[in-house]
Amino acid sequence: MTDPILEVSNLSVVVGRKKILNEVSLSIGAGEVHVLLGPNGSGKTTLLMAVMGMPGYRVTGGSIVLRGREITGMGTDERSRAGIALAFQKPPPVRGVTLKALAESLLEAKAGGNGTVRSLAEKVRLRSCLDRELNVGLSGGELKRSEMFQLLCLEPELSLFDEPESGVDLDNISVVGEAMRSILGMGKERSRKAGLIVTHTGHILRYVPADAGHVLMEGSIVCRGHPQILFEDIRKHGFEGCRSCRHCRSI
Ligand SMILES: Nc1ncnc2c1ncn2[C@@H]1O[C@H](COP(=O)(O)OP(=O)(O)O)[C@@H](O)[C@H]1O
Ligand SMILES: [Mg+2]
Repeated sequence: MTDPILEVSNLSVVVGRKKILNEVSLSIGAGEVHVLLGPNGSGKTTLLMAVMGMPGYRVTGGSIVLRGREITGMGTDERSRAGIALAFQKPPPVRGVTLKALAESLLEAKAGGNGTVRSLAEKVRLRSCLDRELNVGLSGGELKRSEMFQLLCLEPELSLFDEPESGVDLDNISVVGEAMRSILGMGKERSRKAGLIVTHTGHILRYVPADAGHVLMEGSIVCRGHPQILFEDIRKHGFEGCRSCRHCRSI
């Protein structure tokens, strides 16, 4: 593997009083895209939230290291400035802030960047939504495109995508997929950008090829392998089959 961008080691996380993650380890190299699979409630969102440092996700053991720097105790804003961004599974509504105002402040902080508010909004077909309040009353497709728009503005080094295709119709999936490719610097030579994608269906992988996959069950990683092979196995044997499969031993 190339130099790791993200190294999660033996991470245990408690939400409320419940232990959700149990000694999870994974490492993502520069320029790599990984997928995280697992049944509902296995802790996928919790892992992404913990890496982003969202309040309420308490690390009780292990560490999170970004580009060699320990970030386990850092606040969410500091992690964002350090180059991590999260596209939410269920983006929360934020009244009183328009998409345009948010995008302007994100781009201002970047200075330079990939484009203007209008050109980036055009990429995800959201120009007509710029004056809407953030995530208020948006359709499923608009919500996910709005998340992609914010990541396009942020240009993170590590992008965490939580079910980017859920609730998105086929036309919109290609728009979301194109945006993800752009966020991840795909097609650009020697992009060091990395990503971790939670997906149930794997549909998004038609647009965004992934290098490796991890299967999370009941808060523990039970299998690793090439995403396509993992999906085929899960289709045949269900997630239960991941506990006993042999592919992970070759990783
Ligand atoms: N705020 C919370 N309080 C208590 N339990 C929670 C909270 N958030 C998530 N959980 C529980 O943690 C487990 C993992 O949830 P989650 O990370 O959302 O799983 P996934 O994304 O894999 O579906 C579930 O059992 C869920 O009910
Ligand atoms: Mg989830």
